[in-house]
Amino acid sequence: MSGAAYGVGVGPGDPELITVKALRLIRSAGVVAYLAPEGGESFARAVVAQHLTARQTEIPIVVPMEAARFPAMEVYDAAARTIGAHLRRGEDVAILCQGDPFFYGSFMYLFERLAPDHRVEVVPGVSSLTACAAVSGLPLAGRNDVLAVIPAPLDEQVIEERLAAAPAAAIIKLGRHFAKVRRVLDRLGRTEQAWYVERATLPSQRVLRLADVAADAVPYFAMVLVR
Ligand SMILES: C[S@@+](CC[C@H](N)C(=O)[O-])C[C@H]1O[C@@H](n2cnc3c(N)ncnc32)[C@H](O)[C@@H]1O
Repeated sequence: MSGAAYGVGVGPGDPELITVKALRLIRSAGVVAYLAPEGGESFARAVVAQHLTARQTEIPIVVPMEAARFPAMEVYDAAARTIGAHLRRGEDVAILCQGDPFFYGSFMYLFERLAPDHRVEVVPGVSSLTACAAVSGLPLAGRNDVLAVIPAPLDEQVIEERLAAAPAAAIIKLGRHFAKVRRVLDRLGRTEQAWYVERATLPSQRVLRLADVAADAVPYFAMVLVR
């Protein structure tokens, strides 16, 4: 009998922000897979490290950080083959996903490769979007407001158009794109309505007015909320 793959959201960072279902599946899986940056620790694995045991097989999926998509796609092909082999042996595989698996999560690349031939279940998690709203005390949107989620790597003009049309917005994937985002918000006269949230729910969390953020120290795990 084939095993099942579970794309398990582990939440935004606080180990307590994980669902009961996710925890059960992670503890019972014989195999645990997760994305890891080249030469770095997996964020998702670190969140649930205390629940993993030596009897579990771990599959780190090391994704190159280059902008080119092809090397990453080859990595997902290889990871799907490895995970598929475990599933065919009847083992269950928990694939750890930071936040929610289907909210801008790379898990989707594994899902599309595994789902045609295997049983794959997606277990939603607390996403960084709702976590950032919670820790900053900023409701994301209300009434009939449209909420825009804008990836910061987009072109400056596109970000400006999207922001100009949105009463509420979350700008994700900041890192080295922060200065560009700051310029756009300044031009639109919305800097005063913008908050910066870094590493929400972790002990190193920072919540600042956008105007108080130093552009050269912005990490990837940060977002701007505009209301
Ligand atoms: C590729 S997306 C993945 C989102 C993830 N699947 C989720 O549901 O939160 C990564 C982006 O999410 C945001 N993010 C993730 N975790 C965060 C955190 N703890 N605090 C602030 N932003 C976070 C950052 O903008 C980061 O660049």
